[in-house]
Formats: sequence, C-alpha cells, structure tokens
Amino acid sequence: ERSSNIQARPPVVTIMGHVDHGKTSLLDKIRETKVATGEAGGITQHIGAYHVETARGVITFLDTPGHAAFSAMRSRGAQATDIVVLVVAADDGMMPQTEEAIDHARAAGTPIIVAINKMDKPSADPDRVLNELTAKQVISEEWGGDTPMARISAKTGEGIDQLLEYISLTAELMELEAPLDGAAQGVVIESRLEKGRGPVATVLVKKGTLKQGDLVLAGEHYGKVRAMIDEHGNRIQSAGPSIPVEILGLPETPASGSEFLVVSDEKKAREVADFRANREREQQLDRQNTMRLESLFEQMEQGDVSFLNIVLKTDVRGSLEALLSALNELSTDEVKVRVISSGVGPISESDVTLAESSEAVLLGFNVRADATARRTADAADMDIRYYSVIYGLIDDVKAAMSGMLA
Ligand code: GTP
Ligand code: NA
Ligand code: MG
Repeated sequence: ERSSNIQARPPVVTIMGHVDHGKTSLLDKIRETKVATGEAGGITQHIGAYHVETARGVITFLDTPGHAAFSAMRSRGAQATDIVVLVVAADDGMMPQTEEAIDHARAAGTPIIVAINKMDKPSADPDRVLNELTAKQVISEEWGGDTPMARISAKTGEGIDQLLEYISLTAELMELEAPLDGAAQGVVIESRLEKGRGPVATVLVKKGTLKQGDLVLAGEHYGKVRAMIDEHGNRIQSAGPSIPVEILGLPETPASGSEFLVVSDEKKAREVADFRANREREQQLDRQNTMRLESLFEQMEQGDVSFLNIVLKTDVRGSLEALLSALNELSTDEVKVRVISSGVGPISESDVTLAESSEAVLLGFNVRADATARRTADAADMDIRYYSVIYGLIDDVKAAMSGMLA
C-alpha cells in the first residue's frame, strides 16, 4: 500500500574492487578527506559508511575492503546496496577480487558501474580492462553493452564528475523511494566495542526515521538508542532513509549484516531476541560438535596431526569474521588451526586463562589487553600478540605452524 509519506531517497552505493585499486582514495577524493592515509598499512579492514552531498544530490557510499579475507563483508556490502561501483586499476586490470565483486553484485542483483581508476599513470591500459571485463560478461556501453564505465583518477580527480553522473542517472532509473515516517528498519553494517561508550553499531536506515530514544531490535540484541552519531562524529537526533549512523545503547555488538528494526513493545523485543539467541546458540553447539567429531576422526586416521590452538579478540565483528575465515583456510594435513575462542572487545583475564589452559596463542587484532589480563599474562609468562594488519597476523600464524613441524 502506498502511503503519502513515501519519498525519494538517496541511492546507497557500495565501492568494491581488488585490494589497492583505489576504492578508499576515490571516496576520499569525492569527500575531499584523507581516510586512506590514516589506515594501518593503507588497507581498509571494515566497511566505512558516508553520505555525501555531491553536485548531483546526496549519495550514500559504503567503502569495502579489497583484501581476499573480507569476502563476507563484500557480500554484505553488495546486499545492503542499490548500486555497486566496481573500481578497477587501469595499470593492473582484472584481479581475483574484481571477479569476486562482480559475482557478489550479480548474486545480489545489483547494477554495476565501473570506475577504471589510476588513469593518470603512464602504464594505464583502459582497453585491456574493457576486454577483461567483457570476457566476464560485463560489457561497456561504448561496446554495445549496458554497463556505464568512467575512466577516472582518484589522484587528480579526472573523470569523477562523469562517474557521479552515471551514479545519479542509474539511481534515477531505479526510482528509489522509502517511507520517511514510521518505525525505522535497516541493516547493521558493522559493530564494535568501544572503551567508555560500550557497543557501537553502524547502521544504515532503509525505511522510516530512526530517533534517539527508540527501542531497537538488532539481531539477537535490543536496547534503547542512547545517542546517535553521524559520519563526521556529530551527535544527531534522527536519521532517515539511506543515512548511515552510529548508534549507542545496545547491550552487545550485533552481527554485521543483521536486520534492525524499531519496536514499540519491550516484551516483544525480548521474545524475539531470546528466540534468535537460542537459535544462534544451537547452531553454535552444532558447529562445535561437528568440529570436535571431525578432529577426533582426523586424529584417529592420521595419528600424528598437530593442533595450533588460537584465542582471538578483535575490534569489530567484520574483522573477526574475516580473520576466522582466513585462519580456517590455513590448516594443512600436518597442522590444524583450531580457534578455541573468539570475540569482539579487549583481551580479558578469562581470555588469558583460557589460552593458558589450552596452550593456545593469544592474538589481539586492533584491541589491547586490559590491566588485569596483562598482569595475569605476565604472571603466567604468556605472550600476547597484537596486530593491526590482517596479513601480519596470518603470516605469524603460518610461521607458528611451520615452527611446529620443525
Ligand atoms: P583496500 O581498501 O586495501 O582494498 O585498497 P583501496 O582499493 O581502498 O586502495 P587505496 O585507496 O588504499 O589506494 C591504494 C594505493 O593506490 C594508494 O597508494 C593510493 O595512493 C594509490 N592510488 C589510488 N588511486 C590512485 C590513482 O588514481 N592514481 C594513482 N597514481 N594512484 C592511486
Ligand atoms: Na589500500
Ligand atoms: Mg580501502
């Protein structure tokens, strides 16, 4: 039923592409800020959400990481979005995560606009990019296909106007609209635990208007929105469709990709949250049982397999998922990587004791140990390893694995 409060809404555009092809730099240029240079190792390790007033109207952008480990995040990025901008470096061409991004966009049924980036480089070869994309059935309008492609440079700004025009033309054809009033609904983009602020969730409102004081059900958690912060760090009172905001007030970090909605009745919120939490617990038990059985069988079959046990804490759910899937792929016939425990937030005393009792290595990604945890670790003469770059962590785990064989 069409109600009178249905209004046009800004397009949500997800920037995807292979690592270092210039996604964050492109967004920086559009926003004229310097995010990429402030990142550890120059690598994006979370989804950034920004809404930008361009000369062609408001556009909401989601930046995604290009590193191979972040496949789940890219899949979510493609689903939360109206349009995918696929960044392909003109000097590098089609790469594995370029292909993966195309597959995610297709799976989500999302139209693609290609940005052939780094055109300022002498080694830029846009025709090669067009050929490679054609082989993947992504065919430029210039070549009789239906994919708009802009040749750009995130460094000089060349072609970015053209790209923004393609975005607004594509969005116009999609006639994007959403109810402005009423209970808000949307999707959790990312969440993290912050010292002094507690769980912080970045959410994208898809329908209605989210207000401070609203009771929000997000995944298996619910709570009253205590404060809302926009992407510039300013406190705001409300956010309408296509607007990304950080919300404070949830009791725990909801999983990225979970739906959120505003509910009026606390009892209902608790019921739904409990139901979801139980389901999640059962699934987790199933997974653990399967893992235990698998490793038992493996031990029986192979006798001499070793296990590298890991306790892992990260800053956000997205990096946790990415690391778990990357670690999962490291196991060999001789050495199995086994994550004993993992979670979001600082390393606590119980993480240390758990690691100690299971002879696990204790890894922190963008988190530190609290004072009690540090004391306990010191007393046990245990090493806590800290990382801010995903490759660094993976490389160390690989080294530990080969050390076990030596
Ligand atoms: P991930 O988030 O790690 O996947 O990388 P990204 O795609 O966001 O790439 P990023 O913006 O971090 O840029 C990677 C490198 O390419 C940086 O050194 C940028 O300065 C450089 N770069 C990006 N765009 C351009 C461009 O248009 N021209 C030139 N010459 N260099 C560029
Ligand atoms: Na990068
Ligand atoms: Mg980036």
